[in-house]
Amino acid sequence: MSQRAIGVFDSGVGGLTVFKEILQQLPGEELIYLGDTARVPYGTKSPATVLRYATEAAEFLVGQQVKMLVVACNTASSVALPELERRFQLPVFGVIEPGARKAVAMTRKGRVGVVGTEGTIKSGAYTRAIHALNPSIEVFTAACPLFVPLAEEGWAEHAIAHLAAAEYLAPLIRQGIDTLVLGCTHYPLLKATLRRVLGDSVVLVDSAEETARMVAGLLWERQLTRAGSAPRPPRFFVTDVPARFERVGGAFLGAPLEAVTQIELD
Ligand code: DGL
Repeated sequence: MSQRAIGVFDSGVGGLTVFKEILQQLPGEELIYLGDTARVPYGTKSPATVLRYATEAAEFLVGQQVKMLVVACNTASSVALPELERRFQLPVFGVIEPGARKAVAMTRKGRVGVVGTEGTIKSGAYTRAIHALNPSIEVFTAACPLFVPLAEEGWAEHAIAHLAAAEYLAPLIRQGIDTLVLGCTHYPLLKATLRRVLGDSVVLVDSAEETARMVAGLLWERQLTRAGSAPRPPRFFVTDVPARFERVGGAFLGAPLEAVTQIELD
């Protein structure tokens, strides 16, 4: 079992920020990535639709004989995780819990901000996860729908991104947050812009980094860490033609994307 691959999926390119961290922290593991590029974005869709898409994506990866599923999409993790855990007989890991844990560990004043897609924020998943760990923490949330297209456009540090961030974050700044959870796969690309808007005193929590750390811990705990080195380079699957995924995804991964195969999910 431990010699099998880890399956990672997202609605599109965004999950590559999580994938990149897993690749760095677990270089010995074989990895398979699925981006549901034909149906991205998930962040604006209803929970029922996201659940259906996420289930189909998970089914594909389970069919590839993976030993663990990483839901590298905040929106899908927010609404589909319990159902995926019930349905599949293997460890299913999402990005909400790691970000929540880190935020709880980092906040000094007990005032945490969370930014994400409309779907993630509406679900209340981060607030629930933070309160499950510490009910006295005050959580302030904001949906930031423009951040996803800005990151994909390569405009994460553009003046437009700065303006959008200032507008979205103003209510959270007024609430005196000392920690901000980047609750969307794309937001780590906007770190420099968010830092300029928030100043140095607010801690930025990157769910991608935390998820990779917790995946490594879980593999170890369940004796699923692969022995030896990865037998082959990562493989990538997408549901639309690969061209845009290869172009935009390269920036997210920080390396050229190779071996991208188009598949159909439904
Ligand atoms: N991957 C999504 C997330 O982390 C962002 C893109 C989308 O809306 O599908 O929520």
